[in-house]
Amino acid sequence: MRLLSVLVFILYLLLCTYTAKGISRSRNKPIQQTPRKNYLIEECLNNSYTINSCNKVFCQPWQRCMGGTCSCKLPYQCPKNGTSVCSMEGKTFRTYCQLKSYECQRHNSKFRSRGNCELQDDFEVSLKPENVSERFIQVQMNSNKMFICGHQWSMNEANVICRHLHFPEGADRIKLDHPEDTWNSSECLKVTCRGTETSLAECSLVRTSRGRKKLAKVACHTTHQECSSREFRCVNRKCIPSDNTCDGVNDCGDLSDELCCKECRGESFHCSSQVCIPNKYLCNDEIDCLTGEDEAYQLCKERREETEEESMDAERRKIKTFLPQLHCGIPNRTITRRKRIIGGYSAGRDEFPWQVAIRGTEAQVNCGGIYIGGCWILTAAHCVRQSYVHAYRIWTGMLNTILKNSGMETFTLRRVIIHENYNSKTYENDIALLEMKSRDSGQPCSPPNTMAACVPWSPYMFTSGHRCKVSGWGRAEDYERQFTLKWGYVNLMSNCSEIYKERYFKGMECAGTYDGSVDSCRGDSGGPLVCFDSNNVAYVWGIVSWGENCGEEGHPGVYTKVADYFEWISRYTGKATISRFNV
Ligand code: ARG
Repeated sequence: MRLLSVLVFILYLLLCTYTAKGISRSRNKPIQQTPRKNYLIEECLNNSYTINSCNKVFCQPWQRCMGGTCSCKLPYQCPKNGTSVCSMEGKTFRTYCQLKSYECQRHNSKFRSRGNCELQDDFEVSLKPENVSERFIQVQMNSNKMFICGHQWSMNEANVICRHLHFPEGADRIKLDHPEDTWNSSECLKVTCRGTETSLAECSLVRTSRGRKKLAKVACHTTHQECSSREFRCVNRKCIPSDNTCDGVNDCGDLSDELCCKECRGESFHCSSQVCIPNKYLCNDEIDCLTGEDEAYQLCKERREETEEESMDAERRKIKTFLPQLHCGIPNRTITRRKRIIGGYSAGRDEFPWQVAIRGTEAQVNCGGIYIGGCWILTAAHCVRQSYVHAYRIWTGMLNTILKNSGMETFTLRRVIIHENYNSKTYENDIALLEMKSRDSGQPCSPPNTMAACVPWSPYMFTSGHRCKVSGWGRAEDYERQFTLKWGYVNLMSNCSEIYKERYFKGMECAGTYDGSVDSCRGDSGGPLVCFDSNNVAYVWGIVSWGENCGEEGHPGVYTKVADYFEWISRYTGKATISRFNV
């Protein structure tokens, strides 16, 4: 037996070297250039994502996410805490957030300095000399003129300087050069920007001795041109070298070169939402990836990034901590693995505190549901009918459907809201909201022993291959009836349309295992498929909807993709009830 496997292994090795040779031989053919590695995802680029696309990145604290786009908050929607600041126009604002929200609405108030406007010195930026495209940058502060150092000079800083000088698309290119003798000075200004600032005064500016080192030069973007084959066209229509995409540096200025990446190069980190962020954003106590991989405990327990020099970036981060945050998706307990949903385990108490049971007209549990906060339950449209609104009972804190456990509570319904485009033949838009009646009228519902699952706002939060948990009181192996809550691990799958062909529609997602050993089944409908982010916060990624039989190889379960319905849900619940961040 052993001998045979050794033989097979040798054969395998021979085969590998042979094919490898074959490939390298064809590569050496002189006719064609070796195609360069493509880091970009074509179909994602078609969506023209930018720094204002909240399906990909978090909005600024002076913005809110609406329909996938960051839009400006009104100044009064800013947190009240913070220091006052002064604008270029000499107007004092109560907080930095207020100034930025004004600027965001095109009232055009660029940041000039911290504190009130009364005691302000001058701050002037100019390019030298005139009439050439690439120029040195002179900054006049407190009647002191200085050039910007070449040290750590990048497109991040260059874009800010050009924006400051009213070139909205930022810089075309940067360079380092020796200054002319006439303005040779011993000092220069070292600039560090995040890259999203609109005024140079928002960056950190530090005087340092120059020695004989080169100074920074910039060419700001003026006219659009055709991009060459070795260039990438940004959404703002600038051309940047293709090699500068997916490297964590915001060359485009609108971030469009970092948002659709298969992987990342250089000193940058790949968020599971396909975004590249610079390594210096890792473990800096600010979440940059939508699902928090950049601040995951495992990654950060060894490394802690030093916080940067004094700049308005620190203020921006402080504002974020003043914004309201929802408490959702955190189970009290996460262990228990008793035997077996199909191929699953029995759930322990408080393990799935968002799981509810829906008792229908036949006085038995026929569907699951998900508590998402307030008085709101999310379920499948095929589970409920509007006309039975008075017959339904919601059971919370339940583990066993026949044995009563303590901590259980039951609710009647005020409303059944079925998606207006639900199709009972195709199961398109198989989603519904149930509004419970509060037990003490006028009081919030707050069911005991229950925790809301967070609602995902972007379809990029979890991608295929991610392992998630499905739970319910549905049938187990051999379609046997179950009375205790079961759960199992299933993987998100991207090839749902290949599997179910014309039966698959947008708004659906497949999840299962390759061999079909774990699956949801009859009775699990309406229940949760939850995915956990890097800090173990649970999101309702799917609602159990349908499948070809149960637990069959090649026929995974089909779920309603909740992220596609964020706007629909929030229309009824209100945004504040379900937005985990920044409403
Ligand atoms: N429609 C089923 C129900 O009423 C759910 C089926 C899920 N099927 C599956 N193979 N995952 O409970």
